[in-house]
Amino acid sequence: MNINVKEILSDYAEMTEEAMFKYLPKTDCLQGTLVKAMRYSLSAGGKRLRPALVMEFCRVCGKEPETALPVACAIEMTHTFSLIHDDLPCMDDDDLRRGKPSCHKAFGEAEAVLAGDALAILPYEIIAEAGIKNRISGDAALKIIRLLSELSGCKGMTGGQMIDLESENKNVSEAVVLEMYRMKTGALLEFCCKAGCIAAGAGAAQQLAAGSFGQRLGLAFQITDDILDVISDEKTLGKPVGSDAAEGKCTYVKIAGVEKAKQTALSITKQAIEQLSEFNDTDFLRELALSLTDRKF
Ligand code: IPE
Ligand code: IPE
Ligand code: MG
Ligand code: MG
Ligand code: MG
Repeated sequence: MNINVKEILSDYAEMTEEAMFKYLPKTDCLQGTLVKAMRYSLSAGGKRLRPALVMEFCRVCGKEPETALPVACAIEMTHTFSLIHDDLPCMDDDDLRRGKPSCHKAFGEAEAVLAGDALAILPYEIIAEAGIKNRISGDAALKIIRLLSELSGCKGMTGGQMIDLESENKNVSEAVVLEMYRMKTGALLEFCCKAGCIAAGAGAAQQLAAGSFGQRLGLAFQITDDILDVISDEKTLGKPVGSDAAEGKCTYVKIAGVEKAKQTALSITKQAIEQLSEFNDTDFLRELALSLTDRKF
């Protein structure tokens, strides 16, 4: 198989980075500090996994990946908002993100709250604009906006973050931990895969399969993230290690141990890959999913 996952990911990352910063206002305005903080957290260091999923699903549904580029930029912003707020002292209290001081360390806590707020909201403008300018159909834009609201809000990522906080220093069941992961991490990955299909004008069966792939990929992704928090080092990871234990987080790794967690991540990833049978030309998606189970950061 001639799939170079790293190279394709890096091509998608380049496309995203070239387009994403153009959506930010210039910093020579009264609220320039806010724009600087947004730009700082969006800057290099992230894997840019989510934009790649959006554009690749658009491609396997038969449209140019560029069609979904605005949606790809939008979800990287939503994700970055979630990271800025996740690191705050009132949440995970982590001082390092993407190999740099966390937003609140670099700009202050109030500024980080606002940068997160602004990055949570700008995506809706970007997607609506893509519809208005016929980059994607108006109907697709509307559906993607609804999906983003649903999957990043209280029924999705934000809800999952609440369960995460309320589970600290408690013995919660494996089922609750997996539901928390489904919401805090799976929901945004589900969004990426489904939204890529919607941008391409794909039908219900493909949207469903894509969502199911993203959801499972997200579960495996969070399990691996928790494993890395135990076995990696700060330099490789670009964020603190041992943070989950320090905060009393209830993780799948804490319940099942590292070895079992590795097996579970792989088996959920294989279930994810089965969902790809609705699509053609899925070598990259399959190899990407597998590579995420033994990623180093
Ligand atoms: C980190 O996501 C937060 C989780 C959902 C585990 P990523 O590992 O994708 O973070 P970046 O974008 O590469 O920094
Ligand atoms: C975060 O989970 C999921 C989000 C919605 C941000 P973690 O708290 O484990 O993510 P990291 O390890 O800080 O990136
Ligand atoms: Mg967290
Ligand atoms: Mg965290
Ligand atoms: Mg983590």
